[in-house]
Amino acid sequence: MDGEHITLGFERGRPARRMPSHRLVLLILLMGSLLVVLFAYWDVMMLTAGAVPMARNTNSIGSAELGNETVAEKLHREVRILCWVLTTPKYHKTRAIHVLRTWGKRCNKIYFMTSEPDDELPTVVLTKPDRYEVLWGKTKEAFTHIHEQMSDEADWFIKADDDTYVFLENLRYMLYPYSPNMSIYFGFNYKMVGTHQKNESYMSGGSGYVLSREALRIFAEGLNDTAKCRQEDDHAEDVEMGKCLFNLGVKAGDSRDEQLRNRFYPVVPYGALLSGNVGMDFWLYKYAYYNARACMDCLSEYPVAFHYVNNEQLYVYEYFNYQFQHSGRLQVEEQLPKKIREEDLVIPESDNPVT
Ligand SMILES: *[C@@H]1O[C@H](CO)[C@@H](O)[C@H](O)[C@H]1NC(C)=O
Ligand SMILES: *[C@@H]1O[C@H](CO)[C@@H](O)[C@H](O)[C@H]1NC(C)=O
Ligand SMILES: *[C@@H]1O[C@H](CO)[C@@H](O)[C@H](O)[C@H]1NC(C)=O
Ligand SMILES: *[C@@H]1O[C@H](CO)[C@@H](O)[C@H](O)[C@H]1NC(C)=O
Repeated sequence: MDGEHITLGFERGRPARRMPSHRLVLLILLMGSLLVVLFAYWDVMMLTAGAVPMARNTNSIGSAELGNETVAEKLHREVRILCWVLTTPKYHKTRAIHVLRTWGKRCNKIYFMTSEPDDELPTVVLTKPDRYEVLWGKTKEAFTHIHEQMSDEADWFIKADDDTYVFLENLRYMLYPYSPNMSIYFGFNYKMVGTHQKNESYMSGGSGYVLSREALRIFAEGLNDTAKCRQEDDHAEDVEMGKCLFNLGVKAGDSRDEQLRNRFYPVVPYGALLSGNVGMDFWLYKYAYYNARACMDCLSEYPVAFHYVNNEQLYVYEYFNYQFQHSGRLQVEEQLPKKIREEDLVIPESDNPVT
Protein backbone atom coordinates (compact mmCIF):
# COMPACT_ATOMS: atom_id res chain seq x y z
CA MET A 1 0.00 0.00 0.00
CA ASP A 2 1.19 3.48 -0.82
CA GLY A 3 2.74 5.09 2.28
CA GLU A 4 1.51 8.60 1.37
CA HIS A 5 -2.09 7.59 1.62
CA ILE A 6 -4.03 7.13 4.81
CA THR A 7 -6.43 4.39 4.03
CA LEU A 8 -9.83 4.90 5.57
CA GLY A 9 -11.76 2.42 3.51
CA PHE A 10 -10.88 -1.07 2.47
CA GLU A 11 -13.50 -1.59 -0.17
CA ARG A 12 -12.13 -3.98 -2.72
CA GLY A 13 -11.35 -2.80 -6.22
CA ARG A 14 -11.51 0.91 -5.35
CA PRO A 15 -8.51 3.15 -4.89
CA ALA A 16 -8.12 4.45 -1.31
CA ARG A 17 -9.21 8.07 -0.94
CA ARG A 18 -6.54 10.63 -0.36
CA MET A 19 -6.93 12.85 2.70
CA PRO A 20 -6.28 16.60 2.31
CA SER A 21 -3.29 17.76 4.40
CA HIS A 22 -5.21 20.21 6.67
CA ARG A 23 -7.52 17.36 7.71
CA LEU A 24 -4.45 15.24 8.38
CA VAL A 25 -3.06 17.90 10.79
CA LEU A 26 -6.42 18.08 12.56
CA LEU A 27 -6.55 14.31 12.88
CA ILE A 28 -3.04 14.17 14.35
CA LEU A 29 -3.94 16.90 16.86
CA LEU A 30 -7.08 15.02 17.81
CA MET A 31 -5.22 11.74 18.26
CA GLY A 32 -2.56 13.57 20.32
CA SER A 33 -5.07 15.06 22.74
CA LEU A 34 -6.81 11.70 23.04
CA LEU A 35 -3.49 10.14 24.06
CA VAL A 36 -2.94 12.88 26.70
CA VAL A 37 -6.42 12.25 28.15
CA LEU A 38 -5.86 8.48 28.08
CA PHE A 39 -2.55 8.90 29.92
CA ALA A 40 -4.08 11.17 32.60
CA TYR A 41 -7.00 8.83 33.29
CA TRP A 42 -5.16 5.53 32.91
CA ASP A 43 -5.40 4.57 36.61
CA VAL A 44 -9.07 5.44 36.83
CA MET A 45 -9.84 3.46 33.71
CA MET A 46 -7.95 0.41 34.93
CA LEU A 47 -9.83 0.49 38.24
CA THR A 48 -13.11 0.70 36.39
CA ALA A 49 -12.11 -2.14 34.09
CA GLY A 50 -11.27 -4.25 37.14
CA ALA A 51 -14.70 -3.53 38.56
CA VAL A 52 -16.53 -5.06 35.62
CA PRO A 53 -16.70 -8.57 37.14
CA MET A 54 -18.07 -7.00 40.34
CA ALA A 55 -21.00 -5.60 38.46
CA ARG A 56 -21.58 -8.91 36.71
CA ASN A 57 -21.63 -11.08 39.83
CA THR A 58 -23.89 -9.92 42.59
CA ASN A 59 -21.69 -11.47 45.24
CA SER A 60 -18.18 -10.47 44.29
CA ILE A 61 -15.91 -8.85 46.84
CA GLY A 62 -13.11 -7.30 44.78
CA SER A 63 -11.39 -8.27 41.61
CA ALA A 64 -7.84 -8.23 42.97
CA GLU A 65 -8.49 -11.05 45.41
CA LEU A 66 -10.95 -13.01 43.32
CA GLY A 67 -9.59 -12.83 39.78
CA ASN A 68 -12.15 -14.55 37.59
CA GLU A 69 -13.85 -16.31 40.53
CA THR A 70 -17.09 -15.42 42.23
CA VAL A 71 -17.30 -15.34 46.01
CA ALA A 72 -19.26 -18.59 45.90
CA GLU A 73 -16.47 -20.27 43.90
CA LYS A 74 -13.79 -18.99 46.28
CA LEU A 75 -15.78 -20.26 49.26
CA HIS A 76 -16.35 -23.61 47.52
CA ARG A 77 -12.56 -24.06 47.52
CA GLU A 78 -11.84 -22.63 50.97
CA VAL A 79 -14.80 -23.88 53.02
CA ARG A 80 -15.19 -27.50 51.92
CA ILE A 81 -18.37 -29.20 52.98
CA LEU A 82 -19.21 -32.86 53.14
CA CYS A 83 -22.96 -33.41 53.23
CA TRP A 84 -24.46 -36.63 54.48
CA VAL A 85 -28.13 -37.30 54.09
CA LEU A 86 -29.98 -39.81 56.22
CA THR A 87 -32.36 -41.86 54.07
CA THR A 88 -33.72 -45.38 53.55
CA PRO A 89 -34.14 -47.52 50.40
CA LYS A 90 -37.86 -46.69 50.46
CA TYR A 91 -37.04 -43.03 49.74
CA HIS A 92 -34.07 -43.42 47.35
CA LYS A 93 -36.11 -42.68 44.22
CA THR A 94 -38.72 -40.39 45.70
CA ARG A 95 -36.54 -38.15 47.89
CA ALA A 96 -32.79 -38.85 47.89
CA ILE A 97 -32.31 -38.64 44.12
CA HIS A 98 -34.06 -35.25 44.11
CA VAL A 99 -31.80 -33.97 46.87
CA LEU A 100 -28.81 -35.02 44.73
CA ARG A 101 -30.23 -33.26 41.65
CA THR A 102 -30.96 -30.03 43.52
CA TRP A 103 -28.99 -28.63 46.45
CA GLY A 104 -26.92 -31.80 46.97
CA LYS A 105 -24.88 -31.19 43.82
CA ARG A 106 -23.36 -28.08 45.44
CA CYS A 107 -21.76 -29.99 48.33
CA ASN A 108 -18.03 -30.65 47.88
CA LYS A 109 -18.90 -34.27 48.73
CA ILE A 110 -22.24 -35.93 49.37
CA TYR A 111 -23.11 -39.35 50.77
CA PHE A 112 -26.48 -40.94 51.41
CA MET A 113 -26.49 -42.99 54.60
CA THR A 114 -28.86 -45.90 54.06
CA SER A 115 -29.11 -49.67 54.36
CA GLU A 116 -28.79 -50.69 50.68
CA PRO A 117 -26.66 -49.47 47.78
CA ASP A 118 -28.26 -47.62 44.85
CA ASP A 119 -26.98 -47.32 41.27
CA GLU A 120 -27.85 -43.62 41.12
CA LEU A 121 -26.70 -42.48 44.55
CA PRO A 122 -23.34 -42.21 46.32
CA THR A 123 -24.28 -44.33 49.31
CA VAL A 124 -22.70 -45.51 52.53
CA VAL A 125 -24.42 -48.68 53.67
CA LEU A 126 -24.91 -48.67 57.44
CA THR A 127 -25.36 -51.78 59.54
CA LYS A 128 -28.14 -50.35 61.73
CA PRO A 129 -31.69 -51.25 60.69
CA ASP A 130 -34.06 -48.84 58.91
CA ARG A 131 -36.14 -47.88 61.87
CA TYR A 132 -36.97 -44.41 63.08
CA GLU A 133 -36.29 -45.57 66.64
CA VAL A 134 -32.59 -46.12 65.95
CA LEU A 135 -31.84 -42.77 64.29
CA TRP A 136 -29.43 -41.94 67.08
CA GLY A 137 -27.59 -45.22 66.48
CA LYS A 138 -27.41 -44.52 62.74
CA THR A 139 -26.13 -41.01 63.37
CA LYS A 140 -23.33 -42.35 65.59
CA GLU A 141 -22.42 -44.94 62.97
CA ALA A 142 -22.48 -42.40 60.14
CA PHE A 143 -20.27 -39.82 61.86
CA THR A 144 -17.86 -42.54 63.01
CA HIS A 145 -17.53 -43.80 59.44
CA ILE A 146 -16.95 -40.28 58.15
CA HIS A 147 -14.35 -39.55 60.82
CA GLU A 148 -12.46 -42.77 60.08
CA GLN A 149 -12.67 -42.80 56.27
CA MET A 150 -13.48 -39.32 54.99
CA SER A 151 -12.36 -36.63 57.41
CA ASP A 152 -9.77 -35.27 54.97
CA GLU A 153 -12.40 -34.81 52.26
CA ALA A 154 -13.80 -31.65 53.85
CA ASP A 155 -13.50 -29.05 56.61
CA TRP A 156 -17.12 -29.19 57.77
CA PHE A 157 -19.60 -32.06 57.95
CA ILE A 158 -23.33 -31.44 57.71
CA LYS A 159 -26.02 -33.97 58.51
CA ALA A 160 -29.31 -33.37 56.69
CA ASP A 161 -32.55 -35.24 56.18
CA ASP A 162 -33.99 -36.21 52.80
CA ASP A 163 -36.56 -33.41 53.17
CA THR A 164 -34.08 -30.68 54.09
CA TYR A 165 -33.10 -27.92 51.64
CA VAL A 166 -29.61 -26.46 52.19
CA PHE A 167 -28.18 -23.32 50.58
CA LEU A 168 -24.53 -24.33 50.38
CA GLU A 169 -23.29 -20.86 49.39
CA ASN A 170 -24.81 -19.34 52.51
CA LEU A 171 -23.57 -22.18 54.70
CA ARG A 172 -20.00 -21.59 53.50
CA TYR A 173 -20.40 -17.85 54.00
CA MET A 174 -21.64 -18.44 57.56
CA LEU A 175 -18.74 -20.80 58.36
CA TYR A 176 -16.04 -18.69 56.71
CA PRO A 177 -15.06 -16.79 59.91
CA TYR A 178 -14.55 -20.01 61.88
CA SER A 179 -11.65 -22.43 61.75
CA PRO A 180 -12.51 -26.12 61.26
CA ASN A 181 -10.05 -26.65 64.13
CA MET A 182 -12.49 -25.04 66.56
CA SER A 183 -14.58 -27.45 68.56
CA ILE A 184 -17.97 -26.09 67.44
CA TYR A 185 -21.14 -27.02 65.59
CA PHE A 186 -24.07 -25.05 64.18
CA GLY A 187 -27.74 -25.54 63.36
CA PHE A 188 -31.10 -24.30 64.55
CA ASN A 189 -30.60 -23.98 68.32
CA TYR A 190 -33.25 -25.43 70.62
CA LYS A 191 -33.27 -24.94 74.37
CA MET A 192 -32.69 -28.06 76.39
CA VAL A 193 -35.57 -27.74 78.83
CA GLY A 194 -35.86 -29.37 82.23
CA THR A 195 -32.97 -29.85 84.62
CA HIS A 196 -30.27 -28.56 82.37
CA GLN A 197 -27.76 -25.75 82.45
CA LYS A 198 -29.00 -22.46 81.05
CA ASN A 199 -26.60 -22.55 78.14
CA GLU A 200 -27.35 -26.12 77.15
CA SER A 201 -28.85 -26.38 73.69
CA TYR A 202 -29.15 -28.83 70.84
CA MET A 203 -29.63 -28.44 67.11
CA SER A 204 -32.72 -29.43 65.16
CA GLY A 205 -32.11 -32.65 63.26
CA GLY A 206 -34.54 -31.60 60.52
CA SER A 207 -32.84 -28.43 59.33
CA GLY A 208 -29.51 -30.17 59.74
CA TYR A 209 -26.41 -29.43 61.78
CA VAL A 210 -22.81 -28.93 60.75
CA LEU A 211 -19.76 -30.07 62.72
CA SER A 212 -16.25 -28.71 62.35
CA ARG A 213 -13.56 -31.31 61.65
CA GLU A 214 -12.43 -30.93 65.26
CA ALA A 215 -15.98 -31.42 66.58
CA LEU A 216 -16.27 -34.52 64.38
CA ARG A 217 -13.07 -35.93 65.89
CA ILE A 218 -14.13 -35.19 69.47
CA PHE A 219 -17.53 -36.78 68.84
CA ALA A 220 -16.21 -39.92 67.15
CA GLU A 221 -13.54 -40.45 69.79
CA GLY A 222 -15.81 -39.62 72.73
CA LEU A 223 -19.13 -41.28 71.96
CA ASN A 224 -18.29 -44.47 73.85
CA ASP A 225 -18.04 -42.50 77.11
CA THR A 226 -21.02 -43.82 79.04
CA ALA A 227 -21.10 -40.75 81.30
CA LYS A 228 -21.34 -38.32 78.40
CA CYS A 229 -23.24 -39.93 75.54
CA ARG A 230 -26.23 -42.26 75.35
CA GLN A 231 -24.93 -45.73 74.50
CA GLU A 232 -28.26 -47.19 73.35
CA ASP A 233 -29.47 -46.37 69.84
CA ASP A 234 -32.94 -45.08 70.73
CA HIS A 235 -34.30 -41.67 71.84
CA ALA A 236 -34.44 -38.49 69.76
CA GLU A 237 -31.34 -38.27 67.62
CA ASP A 238 -30.94 -34.49 67.77
CA VAL A 239 -31.44 -34.24 71.54
CA GLU A 240 -28.95 -37.05 72.22
CA MET A 241 -26.47 -35.50 69.80
CA GLY A 242 -26.83 -32.15 71.60
CA LYS A 243 -26.32 -33.68 75.06
CA CYS A 244 -23.35 -35.75 73.94
CA LEU A 245 -21.62 -32.82 72.21
CA PHE A 246 -22.32 -30.53 75.19
CA ASN A 247 -20.83 -33.08 77.60
CA LEU A 248 -17.81 -33.49 75.33
CA GLY A 249 -17.29 -29.72 75.39
CA VAL A 250 -18.21 -29.01 71.77
CA LYS A 251 -19.70 -25.50 71.59
CA ALA A 252 -23.22 -25.03 70.25
CA GLY A 253 -22.56 -22.06 67.95
CA ASP A 254 -24.92 -19.19 67.25
CA SER A 255 -25.90 -19.58 63.60
CA ARG A 256 -27.81 -16.29 63.35
CA ASP A 257 -26.65 -13.53 61.00
CA GLU A 258 -25.36 -10.05 61.96
CA GLN A 259 -28.92 -8.82 62.44
CA LEU A 260 -29.61 -11.81 64.75
CA ARG A 261 -31.96 -13.42 62.23
CA ASN A 262 -32.19 -17.19 61.86
CA ARG A 263 -30.25 -18.88 59.09
CA PHE A 264 -31.31 -22.44 59.94
CA TYR A 265 -35.05 -23.01 60.20
CA PRO A 266 -36.64 -26.34 61.20
CA VAL A 267 -39.81 -25.70 59.15
CA VAL A 268 -40.57 -24.20 55.74
CA PRO A 269 -40.51 -20.40 55.60
CA TYR A 270 -44.26 -19.93 55.88
CA GLY A 271 -44.10 -21.81 59.18
CA ALA A 272 -42.26 -18.82 60.52
CA LEU A 273 -44.08 -16.10 58.65
CA LEU A 274 -47.71 -17.10 59.21
CA SER A 275 -47.81 -17.67 62.95
CA GLY A 276 -51.56 -16.99 63.03
CA ASN A 277 -52.03 -20.59 61.94
CA VAL A 278 -50.25 -22.10 64.88
CA GLY A 279 -50.41 -19.77 67.89
CA MET A 280 -47.66 -18.90 70.31
CA ASP A 281 -47.68 -22.27 72.06
CA PHE A 282 -46.42 -23.85 68.82
CA TRP A 283 -43.48 -26.10 69.75
CA LEU A 284 -41.10 -24.05 67.67
CA TYR A 285 -41.69 -20.85 69.64
CA LYS A 286 -41.65 -22.73 72.91
CA TYR A 287 -38.28 -24.35 72.41
CA ALA A 288 -36.37 -21.98 70.13
CA TYR A 289 -33.15 -20.87 71.81
CA TYR A 290 -33.22 -17.55 69.94
CA ASN A 291 -36.05 -15.56 68.29
CA ALA A 292 -38.84 -17.53 69.94
CA ARG A 293 -41.62 -15.71 68.14
CA ALA A 294 -43.42 -15.46 64.84
CA CYS A 295 -41.76 -12.92 62.66
CA MET A 296 -41.21 -11.79 59.11
CA ASP A 297 -38.06 -10.06 60.29
CA CYS A 298 -36.41 -13.00 62.07
CA LEU A 299 -35.53 -14.96 58.92
CA SER A 300 -32.17 -14.11 57.42
CA GLU A 301 -31.80 -12.84 53.88
CA TYR A 302 -29.01 -15.44 53.69
CA PRO A 303 -30.79 -18.56 54.94
CA VAL A 304 -28.88 -21.84 55.22
CA ALA A 305 -31.54 -24.52 55.64
CA PHE A 306 -35.24 -25.26 55.81
CA HIS A 307 -37.03 -28.48 56.71
CA TYR A 308 -40.15 -30.34 55.48
CA VAL A 309 -39.35 -29.49 51.85
CA ASN A 310 -40.93 -32.25 49.76
CA ASN A 311 -39.47 -33.45 46.46
CA GLU A 312 -41.59 -31.12 44.27
CA GLN A 313 -40.72 -28.17 46.46
CA LEU A 314 -36.98 -28.97 46.15
CA TYR A 315 -37.25 -27.99 42.47
CA VAL A 316 -39.36 -24.93 43.28
CA TYR A 317 -36.60 -23.78 45.65
CA GLU A 318 -34.04 -24.44 42.91
CA TYR A 319 -35.96 -22.38 40.38
CA PHE A 320 -36.62 -19.40 42.63
CA ASN A 321 -33.08 -19.30 43.93
CA TYR A 322 -30.87 -20.25 41.00
CA GLN A 323 -32.81 -19.23 37.87
CA PHE A 324 -35.35 -16.62 38.85
CA GLN A 325 -34.45 -12.96 38.29
CA HIS A 326 -36.31 -9.73 38.93
CA SER A 327 -35.74 -7.38 36.05
CA GLY A 328 -33.95 -4.26 37.20
CA ARG A 329 -33.14 -5.49 40.67
CA LEU A 330 -30.18 -3.66 42.17
CA GLN A 331 -27.03 -5.66 42.62
CA VAL A 332 -25.41 -5.78 46.02
CA GLU A 333 -21.71 -5.80 46.79
CA GLU A 334 -20.66 -8.11 49.57
CA GLN A 335 -17.82 -8.34 52.04
CA LEU A 336 -16.69 -11.61 53.52
CA PRO A 337 -16.96 -11.60 57.32
CA LYS A 338 -13.81 -11.33 59.45
CA LYS A 339 -12.16 -14.48 60.78
CA ILE A 340 -12.85 -15.13 64.48
CA ARG A 341 -10.14 -16.26 66.90
CA GLU A 342 -11.22 -19.02 69.29
CA GLU A 343 -10.49 -16.82 72.34
CA ASP A 344 -12.77 -14.08 70.96
CA LEU A 345 -15.75 -16.37 70.40
CA VAL A 346 -18.86 -15.23 72.30
CA ILE A 347 -22.08 -17.25 72.26
CA PRO A 348 -25.06 -15.24 73.60
CA GLU A 349 -27.40 -16.88 76.09
CA SER A 350 -30.94 -17.80 75.11
CA ASP A 351 -33.44 -14.94 74.86
CA ASN A 352 -36.39 -17.32 75.38
CA PRO A 353 -37.81 -16.96 78.93
CA VAL A 354 -39.48 -20.41 78.85
CA THR A 355 -37.75 -22.82 81.22
C1 LIG B 1 -10.16 -18.86 36.27
O1 LIG B 1 -8.90 -18.86 35.63
C2 LIG B 1 -8.11 -20.01 35.92
C3 LIG B 1 -6.71 -19.80 35.32
O2 LIG B 1 -6.78 -19.02 34.16
C4 LIG B 1 -8.81 -21.24 35.38
O3 LIG B 1 -8.05 -22.39 35.64
C5 LIG B 1 -10.17 -21.36 36.04
O4 LIG B 1 -10.89 -22.45 35.51
C6 LIG B 1 -10.97 -20.08 35.85
N1 LIG B 1 -12.17 -20.17 36.63
C7 LIG B 1 -13.36 -19.82 36.17
C8 LIG B 1 -14.48 -19.98 37.10
O5 LIG B 1 -13.52 -19.38 35.05
C1 LIG C 1 -5.63 -26.81 62.01
O1 LIG C 1 -4.73 -27.58 62.74
C2 LIG C 1 -3.76 -28.25 61.94
C3 LIG C 1 -2.97 -29.20 62.81
O2 LIG C 1 -2.70 -28.63 64.06
C4 LIG C 1 -2.91 -27.22 61.24
O3 LIG C 1 -1.96 -27.84 60.42
C5 LIG C 1 -3.80 -26.32 60.40
O4 LIG C 1 -3.06 -25.28 59.81
C6 LIG C 1 -4.92 -25.73 61.21
N1 LIG C 1 -5.87 -25.11 60.30
C7 LIG C 1 -6.39 -23.91 60.51
C8 LIG C 1 -7.33 -23.44 59.49
O5 LIG C 1 -6.14 -23.24 61.50
C1 LIG D 1 -16.66 -47.64 70.51
O1 LIG D 1 -17.25 -48.89 70.69
C2 LIG D 1 -17.41 -49.64 69.49
C3 LIG D 1 -18.20 -50.88 69.83
O2 LIG D 1 -17.65 -51.55 70.91
C4 LIG D 1 -16.04 -49.94 68.91
O3 LIG D 1 -16.18 -50.66 67.69
C5 LIG D 1 -15.33 -48.61 68.62
O4 LIG D 1 -14.03 -48.86 68.16
C6 LIG D 1 -15.30 -47.76 69.88
N1 LIG D 1 -14.81 -46.44 69.51
C7 LIG D 1 -13.82 -45.82 70.13
C8 LIG D 1 -13.43 -44.46 69.63
O5 LIG D 1 -13.23 -46.31 71.06
C1 LIG E 1 -22.29 -23.39 80.23
O1 LIG E 1 -22.38 -22.66 81.45
C2 LIG E 1 -21.56 -23.21 82.47
C3 LIG E 1 -21.88 -22.46 83.75
O2 LIG E 1 -21.92 -21.07 83.51
C4 LIG E 1 -20.09 -23.09 82.04
O3 LIG E 1 -19.26 -23.63 83.03
C5 LIG E 1 -19.88 -23.85 80.75
O4 LIG E 1 -18.56 -23.65 80.27
C6 LIG E 1 -20.86 -23.38 79.68
N1 LIG E 1 -20.75 -24.28 78.56
C7 LIG E 1 -20.77 -23.88 77.30
C8 LIG E 1 -20.65 -24.96 76.27
O5 LIG E 1 -20.90 -22.72 76.97
